[in-house]
Amino acid sequence: MGEILRPLGPIVCVVGARPNYMKMAPLIRAFARQQKKLPGVVLVHTGQHYDVAMNELLFADLELPAPDLNLEVGSGTHATQTAEIMRRFEPVVEELKPSCVIVVGDVNSTLACSLVASKTRTPLMHVEAGLRSYDREMPEEINRLLTDQLADVLYTTERDAADNLAREGIDAARIHFAGNVMIDSLLQHRPRAVPVTDTLKRAGYDAAIATSSERFGVVTLHRPSNVDGSDAFAEALTILRDVSQRLPLIWPVHPRARANIERFGLASLVADAPIVLLEPQGYLEMLGLLAHARLVLTDSGGIQEETTALAVPCLTMRENTERPITVSQGTNTVVGRDRARTAACVDEILRTGGKRGRIPELWDGHAADRITVHLQQWLSSRHALAEPRFA
Ligand code: UD1
Repeated sequence: MGEILRPLGPIVCVVGARPNYMKMAPLIRAFARQQKKLPGVVLVHTGQHYDVAMNELLFADLELPAPDLNLEVGSGTHATQTAEIMRRFEPVVEELKPSCVIVVGDVNSTLACSLVASKTRTPLMHVEAGLRSYDREMPEEINRLLTDQLADVLYTTERDAADNLAREGIDAARIHFAGNVMIDSLLQHRPRAVPVTDTLKRAGYDAAIATSSERFGVVTLHRPSNVDGSDAFAEALTILRDVSQRLPLIWPVHPRARANIERFGLASLVADAPIVLLEPQGYLEMLGLLAHARLVLTDSGGIQEETTALAVPCLTMRENTERPITVSQGTNTVVGRDRARTAACVDEILRTGGKRGRIPELWDGHAADRITVHLQQWLSSRHALAEPRFA
């Protein structure tokens, strides 16, 4: 008796927080280009990030379609947020019966939806797998470790990721080195980057620092290790103050960092220094800022990669990085909150231009295409499809 042919369920793509959007956008676009060979796509937003600046602006800049479903979980403790995402995502999976769930990065939404996919026996694909800081103080490290254990297919951004995964007992057959989807977004949108003068003027600031030959540095800080404790945050702000005496700084401030400046009474540390505090910026504004910066001070994971791709020196205000390729091949230096070391690195950058680096393998703008080809083959072989017959 012949097998009853049923159309495959959709590919469910999950996003939750700001750094997910630039990773998912090129995948959604690549899937659309190959729509005849793939099941339909359903984009689910967990609602982990909800502010317009953290969310809608980025969707528009990245030309991401509006989510098909928004689970509207909002903020909470890690346990509350993770549990609430799981509670709301499970019925979605049960109803849609996806052919697979795709998660990106390392935020709480990534792990929560991975747990649901695994427990409902839905194939799970993790994009940006295998990165490790080996620092379990970071919530993202827990999210990475567990998501990778659960994933059926692990798409990696750098070759060393496979070694990290092998150490955790993950079968090499599940791992596919595809390159960096975030750099797909960067290369696609770079020509549309908003000029820094426009960003400053729109926020009511004098645009002179953008046009001076000295230029400026860009800051982003939001990790709990830097901004959630008053002593640590004061140390970080003191370093920014130091650096700003050498080079004016532009800092789009994460909502939690802004709240904590007030809560810990630290505003005076930055008030009279040449540091421009902006609201969180859109993707194209951020690209403009990063591309024209003389240096970047950050604790973000993604920005370490973006600065490497843009050949802009990056000083990472953390004790470690899960993206060592940005140090070994790119423009990144890990400085922690070491005042003297940061000052020495800033000196060096201002004197020599700093590390130029080179572009890591497969950070070439085509990672999403490679993932699409692999995914199509994976789904086909799993369902033993002679011909594509998707709904
Ligand atoms: C999350 C990710 C982090 C990522 C960062 C980028 C986790 C564990 N962390 O951290 O990996 O680098 O996003 O921004 O998933 N808030 C708002 N508006 C929003 C979202 C958050 O005001 O739209 C504030 C709230 O006070 C909230 C706090 O930020 O409680 C933390 O938000 P949350 O999503 O839990 O973590 P992030 O710090 O943004």
